[in-house]
Amino acid sequence: MADTESNEGRDLIELLLEDHAKAKSLLEQIDDSGDSADLATLFPQLVKDLVTHEVAEEEIVYPALRSWVEGGDAMAEARVAEQQEAEELLAAMEKMEIGSGMFRQSLLQLKGAVLDHAAHEEAEVFPALKAGVSPERLQTLGQAYTIAKAVAPTHPHPHAPNSFPGNVLVGPAIAIVDRAYDALRSVLQKVGS
Ligand SMILES: [Fe+2]
Repeated sequence: MADTESNEGRDLIELLLEDHAKAKSLLEQIDDSGDSADLATLFPQLVKDLVTHEVAEEEIVYPALRSWVEGGDAMAEARVAEQQEAEELLAAMEKMEIGSGMFRQSLLQLKGAVLDHAAHEEAEVFPALKAGVSPERLQTLGQAYTIAKAVAPTHPHPHAPNSFPGNVLVGPAIAIVDRAYDALRSVLQKVGS
């Protein structure tokens, strides 16, 4: 969990924007790469980055949106539906031969879905959170988000629950998840207090 320390003091929006930038750059690299060896390294990284981002958003970002932003429920539901589509695509792609025609075709679809999702969040969700949530709370939520990412599953589980705590518990290392879950819960308690 080295990342949890280096992210200290950074607010939720900063961390989310950084994740989006990283995912966009990885998608570009994968798109440009004609080399299967590169794809074999880049694609698992993309899967891990997208899945941990998605799970942590469902645990931290959407509950905050629902609680503190007017109209947040509808915004959150639309974003969860987009993430579900990306997760199903990722699950299918993990079973394909990396670099095959089918893989490339799904990659285009995935890229469209991820860019669309990121654009909606950057245009609607982040400004709404900035307007509705105090800077102190956004910092604490940043900590909670970092912990949630560190304990999130790293592969897609499209049939797993899309909300906390169900999606935290699908990870294989239950003992580690339990310890991290306690840390996450204590941060969430601070946010709620
Ligand atoms: Fe996102």
